[in-house]
Amino acid sequence: MVRSVPEPRELLKIAIEVAREAAATAYRMRSQGVSVAATKSTVTDVVTAADRAVERQVHDALHRLRPGDAVLGEEYGEAGAGAAVRWIIDPIDGTVNYLYGVPHSAVSLAAEVDGVVVAGVVRNVVTGEEWTAAVGDGAWRDGQRLRCSTESDLGQALVATGFGYDPRRRQHQGRVLVELIPHIRDIRRFGAAALDLCLAAEGRVDAYYEKGLAAWDLAAGGLVATEAGLRVGGLGGATAGPDLVIAAPPGLFAPLHDRLADLDAAGGP
Ligand code: IPD
Repeated sequence: MVRSVPEPRELLKIAIEVAREAAATAYRMRSQGVSVAATKSTVTDVVTAADRAVERQVHDALHRLRPGDAVLGEEYGEAGAGAAVRWIIDPIDGTVNYLYGVPHSAVSLAAEVDGVVVAGVVRNVVTGEEWTAAVGDGAWRDGQRLRCSTESDLGQALVATGFGYDPRRRQHQGRVLVELIPHIRDIRRFGAAALDLCLAAEGRVDAYYEKGLAAWDLAAGGLVATEAGLRVGGLGGATAGPDLVIAAPPGLFAPLHDRLADLDAAGGP
């Protein structure tokens, strides 16, 4: 029997339900104390018990609600490859903030259909702010429709970015930043890529760029940003991905893109 694929709105409803429960678990575990359970790519790339518990909970919930769908998560990788619907989970984006008690971390959950992200939710674990989008239905935060900034002057742009965990990558990213910052209003480094994209979606920053994002950092926040009117892409017409993500209002994309291209922002390790 061929299983029908639900509409993006239906997938979003499921995503919201699951992400709310997941964020509640993350919040509860944070209030009980948190420590590093393991490190991943480098000694600063940490995993807490909550990252694992939350991803496991999301897996279990999705398995119950949508058995047969594929799942890709930051901590446990891929399961059920080949299904039409794939869920992409970042159980806690902003893990270092979470570890230090900085109230800026999020559960990020997106649904892809045939490789295209069609629904996504990003929920701040501490504040409960929740950003959602289903393809074609706009971007929303807590019932309010979102529109990105209309800034087009790079010199006036407040730009968020982030850094990877590999010291050599960070060095390259730092060099790019040193050359960019004299040409913009200022930089923000909040520490959670999914939230950076959501903040750009509502104009709390004008734009965002970063090299090295994984699918789970980008999926839900990228759709929220796109649905809020941002152009989300890479260098030279490439799609946004690990090489570079640029999210900027339509009039700001080209000036930011060109500056980042000159600075070889997608280069380095
Ligand atoms: C990280 C955060 C950070 C970004 C890194 C990500 P994690 O995700 O989103 O802001 O700069 O590139 O890896 O490790 O907290 O899930």
